[in-house]
Amino acid sequence: MLSLEGKIVLITGLGQTQPGGWGIGAAIAVLLARQGAKIFGGNRTIASTISTKKAIEEAGGVCDILETDVTSSKSVEALVKACMEKHGRIDILVNNVGRSEPGCPATMSEEVWDSQIEINLRSVFLTCHHVLPIMEKQGAGAVVSVASIAGLRYIGKPQVGYSATKAAIMQFMKATAVIYAPKGVRLNTVVPGLMDTPYTKSLVGRYATDGGHEEYMKMRNAQVPMGSMGDAWDVAHAALFLVSDEAKYITGQKIVVDGGITSSTGRA
Ligand SMILES: NC(=O)c1ccc[n+]([C@@H]2O[C@H](COP(=O)([O-])OP(=O)(O)OC[C@H]3O[C@@H](n4cnc5c(N)ncnc54)[C@H](OP(=O)(O)O)[C@@H]3O)[C@@H](O)[C@H]2O)c1
Repeated sequence: MLSLEGKIVLITGLGQTQPGGWGIGAAIAVLLARQGAKIFGGNRTIASTISTKKAIEEAGGVCDILETDVTSSKSVEALVKACMEKHGRIDILVNNVGRSEPGCPATMSEEVWDSQIEINLRSVFLTCHHVLPIMEKQGAGAVVSVASIAGLRYIGKPQVGYSATKAAIMQFMKATAVIYAPKGVRLNTVVPGLMDTPYTKSLVGRYATDGGHEEYMKMRNAQVPMGSMGDAWDVAHAALFLVSDEAKYITGQKIVVDGGITSSTGRA
């Protein structure tokens, strides 16, 4: 079940911005490698990917990493080229890079708005732009992008750039899935809710609450019908299913991994 033996995975953002615990991209890379895939990753800095690479290689897997800026077409093109030179194909593409900046339209600067579009949305366009022609030629491929429930509803903090771009990712994936369905390429989205990852720690600084880290975590747990945040592995398991052959008849869909948040009208 869910074997990825021999498959080549191109993944972005497989490091993590903060040490300790597991980021979503790192967990996806490790889980896919565990299922037999070879990982080729692009990340902003090599330093933050060391623990991912180590975990994969210590378990006997293969993981190459190239310094990549997913907002730059040239950089993404170089990543795709390097992967093709090494492996000659790309079976699976995972778009994980993303970042939230606070603000509503009045308070957010134009620069921050533009940078939200670049990192969250242009990045997905660019990888698809460079990888989909390869998958089309192969007659097969699976793409998964990481969105957020902030793209489905307001989740308690003003982050309009993030919300808008994460919503756009879902529609981008859906529309592209229909175009590529006859070509043997599937595109789906995983939609994490409130997850406890190293990245979440960085949010405390950007969305400060008076009580600091502990209060912020308590507030996030309290928002979830299941009573606590999920973790990176919860998201990784959904991604694994979507890229596996077991999901061969699923395209243009999303799996929401949120402990029930988006099924609820909110907690008292
Ligand atoms: N954690 C949550 O609660 C949550 C909830 C919903 C959705 N998500 C989504 O999950 C995804 C990321 O989660 P995560 O835990 O893996 O985050 P993370 O720990 O912040 O990891 C993001 C990775 O992306 C890399 N990166 C940042 N900018 C880049 C760029 N321009 N080019 C290439 N790489 C870049 C970072 O590299 P550096 O370390 O070098 O900066 C880091 O390795 C995002 O799309 C996020 O929006 C998270």
